[in-house]
Amino acid sequence: MARPQNDTFLRALLREPTEYTPVWLMRQAGRYLPEYCATRKQAGSFLNLCKNPRAACEVTLQPLERYDLDAAILFSDILTVPDAMGLGLYFAEGEGPRFERPLADEAAIKALKVPDPYGELKYVMDAVSEIRGALNNRVPLIGFSGSPYTLACYMVEGGSSDDYRKIKTMLYSRPDLLHHILAVTADAVIAYLNAQIDSGAQAVMIFDSWGGGLSAAAYQEFSLRYLERIVAGLKREKDGEKVPVIVFTKGGGLWLESIAAIGADGVGLDWTIDLGEARRRVGDKVALQGNLDPSVLFAPAEVVAAEAVKVLASFDRPGPSNTGHVFNLGHGISQFTPPDVVKTLVDTVHAESRRRRQVA
Ligand code: CP3
Repeated sequence: MARPQNDTFLRALLREPTEYTPVWLMRQAGRYLPEYCATRKQAGSFLNLCKNPRAACEVTLQPLERYDLDAAILFSDILTVPDAMGLGLYFAEGEGPRFERPLADEAAIKALKVPDPYGELKYVMDAVSEIRGALNNRVPLIGFSGSPYTLACYMVEGGSSDDYRKIKTMLYSRPDLLHHILAVTADAVIAYLNAQIDSGAQAVMIFDSWGGGLSAAAYQEFSLRYLERIVAGLKREKDGEKVPVIVFTKGGGLWLESIAAIGADGVGLDWTIDLGEARRRVGDKVALQGNLDPSVLFAPAEVVAAEAVKVLASFDRPGPSNTGHVFNLGHGISQFTPPDVVKTLVDTVHAESRRRRQVA
């Protein structure tokens, strides 16, 4: 299969030259778009959207109709994997995700099994193929998964948490149990992402949303080690094309060197670190993805444009060899974002990065 017509995103991740800086946004399909809310209403719920490949395909493409984005991301959720492990995912209105059967005791933990990506998770693979068909090679499709530690947070807490008391209690008092959850989950993620790649995902991203809440030592032992295991187990080529992998630990800026050393092609960064400093610390080892504060999008359009330019300038590699940066937000786009400023953002990134490449 040939590379997409617009393969700027893939080339930036592989640190090949690009004419401009590619941009996509975490959670680019979501509640800030009125058309998403309409489709969700029709489907009845968020999970119905995820589990119906036609609907998932429709919402995946919605932001691409509005904005000149350089990648599409599969519409799904990281919690599909624990759901397929039998934990019973549901969304209580206004409460976020919850599990009917969280991992409450040792017996439940020891009974965990790797789900068959073509069994319980077949709806995800069907969505990937459906989206690839509909994209018709316009831009690359990103597949994704949660990191073992982030998934374990939800599996042990039973939902979102303010203090991660249950999982941290386990981490310090029964590390053997937590390692068991993480090992099974890492195998599940490897099988799940490789199946997404076989179904048509052209890059994959691992979201480690809560790894940044660990101590430096615990991060290495309970999150990074499993991220490394996953990266080593992924298919990195499909039909002669490289399939880049991005890892993103929110709040991981302090540990950037060790994150950049696990073998991924790209590292996602939140807004707490300066991109130029990050690049000096890791050199050309990996591409960097990020890192505009999503709250910037609540400001007037001219401020959004100015802040986007600041992010491009902070990566700062003027001239034609400028590469290795994928513009993104530092975390998911807020549901309260006005849709119009997103166009300002995307168009500014493209125009300004083209201009910067012409300045020798
Ligand atoms: O980026 C994309 O457009 C792809 C879709 C995507 C969703 N979730 C859709 C979604 C992706 C990549 C995710 C990842 C995800 N899900 C993460 C990791 C990234 C991060 O934000 O840190 C996490 C932690 C989850 C778990 C999750 N799913 C939570 C905590 C919530 C509730 C919070 C919220 O925003 O409501 C969800 C629900 C969810 N996942 C929504 C969407 C569009 C909102 C659901 C709705 O329509 O009500």
